[in-house]
Amino acid sequence: MKAEDIKQVASIGGGVIGSSWTTLFALRGLKVYQYDINDECIEKCKEHIESNLASLVEFGAIEADKVEGIKANISYTTTIAEAVKDAQFIQENGPERLPIKQSILAEIEAAAPADALYASSSSGLLISDVTANATHPERCVGGHPYNPPHLIPLVEITYCEKTDQANVQLAKDFYQSIGKEAVVLNKECPGYIANRLQLAVYREMIDLVMRGICSAEDADKSLVYGPGIRWAIFGHNMIMQLGNPGGLKGMMEMLGDGGDVWLADMADWKHMPNKEYGEIAQASVDEMMKNFPDEVGHTNQECAKYRDKMLVEILKLHHKF
Ligand SMILES: NC(=O)c1ccc[n+]([C@@H]2O[C@H](COP(=O)([O-])OP(=O)(O)OC[C@H]3O[C@@H](n4cnc5c(N)ncnc54)[C@H](O)[C@@H]3O)[C@@H](O)[C@H]2O)c1
Repeated sequence: MKAEDIKQVASIGGGVIGSSWTTLFALRGLKVYQYDINDECIEKCKEHIESNLASLVEFGAIEADKVEGIKANISYTTTIAEAVKDAQFIQENGPERLPIKQSILAEIEAAAPADALYASSSSGLLISDVTANATHPERCVGGHPYNPPHLIPLVEITYCEKTDQANVQLAKDFYQSIGKEAVVLNKECPGYIANRLQLAVYREMIDLVMRGICSAEDADKSLVYGPGIRWAIFGHNMIMQLGNPGGLKGMMEMLGDGGDVWLADMADWKHMPNKEYGEIAQASVDEMMKNFPDEVGHTNQECAKYRDKMLVEILKLHHKF
């Protein structure tokens, strides 16, 4: 099977992530069978998808007259066997608990076509554990999206030694064919790539605030209007490349051991002071939201809408819409 042969996909679990994947699959013209455990969950999933599509129209990412056609690509079911029986690609988005993931996979394997590809959205479980009891581990990968998958292009593909490399490539080609930017981890590791990078930055932000060096608001501002705005265009290796006439290598030579003094002073905790920081930083974030311009908003809902509107603008620049 080639990526372009994949026309029918199944989305197993229709919560935050499943409904967003389904929005994307349907938007890219694929037929999607959405499974969830009962009618109430299916109704919630439909509401999420409606809302995702309405926002995409509002932000100018899709035309209003396309919405009915996109919705017509989606079927709903409360039976896994029905969802996967004709699927060529199966995206699993059930709860993040190993026994549940394993039992969903067993149900999928009992009903899916022999060559269907399985990808788990799991944020933290290792694909070697998810597939420990699988009959066909060779066709299973991790396909970890960044929330929400219908907007954020990244998907991290993981595999284990039982995975067939041809299927890793097929998963990558398929995701790329629907506009995702797929990266493949050559070894399994907790947190994958992007969340580890994010946590490294957040550890330092928390440390700066807890040591009284800056406010939570100024830590956020430093990120958004400094490195963050560049990182939406190029990754840090490219930033280094552009920073010196000798490229990245020249930059590394120029920096020498100059960063060691900073590193010696920087956070290297192995335990995040999450509770303590929540208590310190919440008031500062509440104040920051109060002072945002009305255009940005003052509630979580308003700010999330503003974030998504800005995301769509950036995605348009990246030719993702
Ligand atoms: N929320 C995030 O930011 C995020 C980001 C990336 C990946 N993920 C991963 O995506 C997966 C889903 O997360 P979520 O945030 O959408 O959770 P969620 O709780 O919003 O959705 C889970 C869905 O699974 C359904 N479900 C419950 N039992 C099930 C079963 N036995 N079989 C199939 N479906 C079942 C629930 O009804 C619900 O609709 C998790 O593995 C999570 O780690 C989440």
